[in-house]
Amino acid sequence: MSRWLLTGGAGYIGSHVARDLLASGREVVVLDDLSTGIRERVPVDAELVVASVLDTDAVRRALDGVSGVVHLAAKKAVGESVEQPLLYYRENVGGMTSLLQAMDDVGTACMVYSSSAAVYGEPAWSPISEDSPLQPLSPYGETKVIGEWMVRDVAVARPLSWVSLRYFNVAGAGAINLGDPSVNNLIPMVFRALDRGESPQIFGTDYPTLDGSCIRDYIHVSDLSAAHVAAADLVEREVVGVALNVGTGVGASVIEVMDAVSEVVGRDVGAVAVGRRAGDPPELVAQVMRAQETLGWSARRSLTEMVSSAYAAR
Ligand code: UD1
Repeated sequence: MSRWLLTGGAGYIGSHVARDLLASGREVVVLDDLSTGIRERVPVDAELVVASVLDTDAVRRALDGVSGVVHLAAKKAVGESVEQPLLYYRENVGGMTSLLQAMDDVGTACMVYSSSAAVYGEPAWSPISEDSPLQPLSPYGETKVIGEWMVRDVAVARPLSWVSLRYFNVAGAGAINLGDPSVNNLIPMVFRALDRGESPQIFGTDYPTLDGSCIRDYIHVSDLSAAHVAAADLVEREVVGVALNVGTGVGASVIEVMDAVSEVVGRDVGAVAVGRRAGDPPELVAQVMRAQETLGWSARRSLTEMVSSAYAAR
């Protein structure tokens, strides 16, 4: 049985990955500073180390007996990163530096890294392949690109097998206690508005898309989590270095998401169109062939399953 370190394992995505890594037969050590993570979300079968990835000594100790790392711990709000760029560089780039140093010190040679579709910025075409230019539009996206480059560069200098997973729009929940507590993303924002008796808002209906609202590639968090296990299997099995889009390959517009919510709650949610939110690209959909071929994985769950599980877990 191999033992894996999961940074950020008390977070929304991390708590799903922790369960799936355990279910794959691995031992799991979660390292999380609980700044946004929730202690109760860490499965009882996993060991929890409460520490920041910036604490290289703590990471080194947590790596004892570990064969691979899934690195999720990071700051992830685009708007906040524009306001506080240094916080993002310190946490995300500093965190990666500290983690790679600790891995180098103890000789850990496998890594799965949580990257983002934010590395592409506003792409000239969609669906987006992994070979598209990396043109992030925020400090958040920049720190994700830098993280990818750091892993790649370290892998040139020493043995390191790695996969970077570029997440598209993650949604839904694998269990009712594992919902997304984020205040920024579309589906949680819709439910929050409904719970307050307010109308959900559509940020812009004048985009060059079929119905005028933005199109995104929403992926169920349980499908995303399964991709991490497939990536962990791969880096353990052979020496690779590859960045992969993790999405469904199918886009949904904001209006289609609103329709899915109406279907799930059993009434028209009465979404209202408001102005565009600054910096939103019209369409972001993943090309998913490379992930399918490399990992033997593909997303299975529908938008309705994302919305209904998010509704049950709110
Ligand atoms: C999200 C993440 C970003 C990640 C990217 C990957 C946030 C804030 N953004 O960006 O970190 O890198 O996915 O692709 O976490 N919308 C509305 N009404 C609302 C809220 C949102 O119409 O009340 C629209 C937005 O304009 C956008 C879409 O819904 O078109 C999705 O928004 P959001 O969930 O914030 O995700 P992204 O901005 O795509």
